Amino acid sequence: MILVVCLNPALDVTHYVSAVDWAGVNRPTAVHTRPGGKGLNVARTLHALGADVLLMGLAGGDTGRAVEAALRQAGVPSALIPISGLTRHTFTVVDDAGTTASFNEAGPEVTAHEFDSLRMAYLEALATTDAVVLSGSLPPGLPVTTYAALIQAAAAAGVPVLLDSNGAALLQGVSAGPAIVKPNLDELAGATGKILSASGTVCAAGTVCAAHTVDRAAVREAATELRAAGADAVVASLGPAGLLAVTAEGCWHAWPSAVAAGNATGAGDAVAAALVHGLVARRPWDERLRHAVALGAAAVAAPVAGEFRRESYLDGLRPVAVRLEEVR
Ligand SMILES: Nc1ncnc2c1ncn2[C@@H]1O[C@H](COP(=O)(O)OP(=O)(O)OP(=O)(O)O)[C@@H](O)[C@H]1O
Ligand SMILES: [Mg+2]
Repeated sequence: MILVVCLNPALDVTHYVSAVDWAGVNRPTAVHTRPGGKGLNVARTLHALGADVLLMGLAGGDTGRAVEAALRQAGVPSALIPISGLTRHTFTVVDDAGTTASFNEAGPEVTAHEFDSLRMAYLEALATTDAVVLSGSLPPGLPVTTYAALIQAAAAAGVPVLLDSNGAALLQGVSAGPAIVKPNLDELAGATGKILSASGTVCAAGTVCAAHTVDRAAVREAATELRAAGADAVVASLGPAGLLAVTAEGCWHAWPSAVAAGNATGAGDAVAAALVHGLVARRPWDERLRHAVALGAAAVAAPVAGEFRRESYLDGLRPVAVRLEEVR
C-alpha cells in the first residue's frame, strides 16, 4: 500500500468568466468545485494507475466534509482526521484568454493534539505501507520539522518516503533522509540559493528554445547538494524540459518528445505519483523516469489537475528520451 499524507487539503473552486471586471460584478459562465491539494492529486493519480493507495490527512468543517465526500465518490480510500478548523478553499478565476489567477488560503490552524491523532494513525498505517508520499504545504500551527519527523518514523519502520514540498519544510525533510525528493526549479533554487535558468540554453531537443531556458549544469549541482544534505535521490522537474535526477547511479536526464499544450498545474504531482509507483514496483531508474515524464505530459494535456488520459500516458511512454549523463 502507498500512504499519501496531505496535511493541508483544499476545496478548489474555479470560476470561468469571459473577462474579469476588477471593479464590477463578475458572473461566471461555469463553476467547478473539486477536492485539491498536492497530496490529493498524487493519491487520485495513483488510484487511476491501479495502485493500492490510502490518503491520510486533516480535514475540518463543511469544506473538509466536501473533500471527504468527493474522495469517497472517486473511490479513493481515505483516512481524514477531524480538526476544529476549516479545511481551506483555493479559488481560481480563468478567463476566455486562458489567463488564470489563483487565491490560495494558508489553511486552518492545526493544534498539537490534532496532529498527534494523525501521527498515531500514521504510525499504525506504516506497518502495512510499502512507501509514503509527503506532499504539499504545511498548515499553520505545524512546525517546519513536521515532515522530517514523519520521515524519521517511516525510516524506523523501513518504509521509503518521497517528499515534495518547499522552503524550510523541504530542507528539514531532506536532512531526515527521504528516498526521493522532487523539487521543481523554483523549489530547488529556493533550497540551494542557486540560479537555475539561463536564457538561450540549448534545449533537450537540441535547439535554442525560449521554453527550455534551464541551466542543467546548475540544476545538477543544486540537486547534488540536496542529495549530500540527506536525500537518497533528487529528481528535479524542469517543466517542459523534463526531469533531471541525481541518484546513486549518476545523473539522468529524461525529457518528453514534444512540449504538450494544456494545464501544467499538477504535472509535478503526476511525476511524484509515477516515481513512487516505480519505486514500489522496483523499476530501474531509467524506467521510473520514463513513466514519470510520460505521466507528467499526460497530466498537462488533461484539463484538470490530478487527472490524465490513460492512452495519452501509454502512447507517450516510448518516445520519452532517457539518458544517463554522468555515471557515478
Ligand atoms: N508543457 C509540457 N509538456 C510536456 N511535459 C511537461 C510539460 N510541462 C511539464 N511537463 C512534465 O511534467 C513534469 C512536472 O512539471 P513541473 O516541473 O512544472 O512540475 P511542478 O512545478 O512541480 O508542478 P505542480 O507543482 O504544479 O504539480 C516535468 O518535469 C515534465 O516532465
Ligand atoms: Mg510541484
